[in-house]
Amino acid sequence: MEHDNILKSIGPQGFLLPCPIFLVGSYHTNADGEKVPNIMTAAWGCLCSAQPPAVAVAVRGSRQTHKAIHKHKAFTLSIPDTAILPETDYCGIFSVAQENKFDRTKFTPVPAEHVDAPYVKECPVVIELTLMKHVDVGTHTLFIGEIMDVKIRESCLNAEGMPNPKDLNVPAYIPMLREYWGLGEFKAKAFGVGKTIVASKISE
Ligand SMILES: Cc1cc2nc3c(=O)[nH]c(=O)nc-3n(C[C@H](O)[C@H](O)[C@H](O)COP(=O)(O)O)c2cc1C
Repeated sequence: MEHDNILKSIGPQGFLLPCPIFLVGSYHTNADGEKVPNIMTAAWGCLCSAQPPAVAVAVRGSRQTHKAIHKHKAFTLSIPDTAILPETDYCGIFSVAQENKFDRTKFTPVPAEHVDAPYVKECPVVIELTLMKHVDVGTHTLFIGEIMDVKIRESCLNAEGMPNPKDLNVPAYIPMLREYWGLGEFKAKAFGVGKTIVASKISE
């Protein structure tokens, strides 16, 4: 395929496209030693193992969530839909050190079934994780969690029990621009559309 693709360097920076958006759930310990449910917005994360199924999320050392994950060796990822973007963004601007984010957003904290962390009832996807290991990488710590359970809003599942991206309506995050975008339209089947390249080669 021939087309003009002039690439301009923007230098080394934290950039990847697109990024997911999670609300990382953990139990914060307040000044009175009480266990308080907390959530923080995170965009730096990805699947990192199929067996055991695992996700890695990068959390800066200064976050209260950083301490909480170390303490409880567990966290959750609640994936929001675009309807709750203001609340989601708020959880990335304020720390539990300033105020209780569940109280402010009116999100409902639910104790996870399998791990010692809370999740957000209002999110269409929830992942429960136990901490497998952590790796300090510059400013952030990569917390690698083994997936103990995934919950998906029932109304977003089709007859075969598969998630429907349109109904889930989850946002993607664009670093540098600091913008949330929608997912857009279905384009092609993965592990499928690539085979058309081979087929066209054969017919040449
Ligand atoms: C869109 C967005 C993405 C963010 N991604 C991350 C991230 O991946 N890792 C991180 O450490 N902080 C990230 N933050 C910042 C934290 O969410 C923020 O510092 C939060 O106040 C920490 O809360 P806590 O102190 O209650 O844990 C992000 C914020 C926003 C708005």
